[in-house]
Amino acid sequence: MDGNGRWAKQQGRRRLFGHNAGAESVRACCEYAVEHGIRYLSLFAFSEENWSRPEDEVSGLMKLMFKSVLEERETFRKNNIRFRVIGDRSRLPADLLQAIDAVQQETAGHTGLTLIIMLSYSGKWDILQAAQRYAADCLAAGRQLPLDETGFGNLLATAGIPDPDLMIRTSGEQRISNYMLWQCAYTEFYYTPVLWPDFRKNDLEQAIQSYNQRERRYGKVE
Ligand code: FPP
Repeated sequence: MDGNGRWAKQQGRRRLFGHNAGAESVRACCEYAVEHGIRYLSLFAFSEENWSRPEDEVSGLMKLMFKSVLEERETFRKNNIRFRVIGDRSRLPADLLQAIDAVQQETAGHTGLTLIIMLSYSGKWDILQAAQRYAADCLAAGRQLPLDETGFGNLLATAGIPDPDLMIRTSGEQRISNYMLWQCAYTEFYYTPVLWPDFRKNDLEQAIQSYNQRERRYGKVE
C-alpha cells in the first residue's frame, strides 16, 4: 500500500493524512473482495523497516490500526470475514495486540474472505523465525528432523494460507521490499502508478484483469 506520503504531500498535508486516506482504500478493496468471492486478501500495512520512521508517524499508524480494527468489527461480522494479523508481535503496543487478539478470536469461525494485515512483517524476518523454530525443534528432538518445502512453509508465519496468486504494488515502485519472499516464488506481479489513497475498486479490477490474461507456467513448458 505504497504512496500515502506522496499523496499527502501533493495535498500539502502531513503524512498521516495520507495514511488515513489509505484506510479508505483498504475498505474499498475489502468490499470488492467480498463482492467477487476472493478468498484471501493480504495487505502490507507496516514493515519491520517502517519502525525506523519518525516516532510521530509510527505512533500515528499504530493508533490508526487500533481504531480501524475496532471500527471494522461489525463489517467483519456482517460479511463473514475472517481477520488475521501476521508479523512480529513483540514490537506491537499492548492495546493494539489486545484488540487484534479479540477480533481474531471473534472472526476465527468465519468462512468468507480471509483478510490478512501484515503488520511489523518482513519476508526475511519470517524466513529467519521459521529457521529458528526448525532449529529449536531439532534440538528438542535431539536429531536433525526431515524438512521439505511443505514443512518449511508450515513454519512460516503464513502457515495455512495459500501463496499469493497476485501481488499488486502501487505508486510506481517496482520492488518487493522484503514482502513475502518465500511465498512469492511464483506470484504474478502487477505495478501501477496509482498512489494507494487513490486506489479503488476499478484499479483492483484492472489488476485482476491483467492477472487473468497471464499464462502461469511455474517454470514448465506448455
Ligand atoms: C506506505 O506508504 C504505507 C504505509 C507504511 C502504511 C500503510 C497503512 C495504511 C494504508 C493504513 C491503513 C491500514 C489498515 C490495515 C487499516 P508510504 O508512507 O511509504 O508513502 P510514500 O512512499 O509516498 O512516502
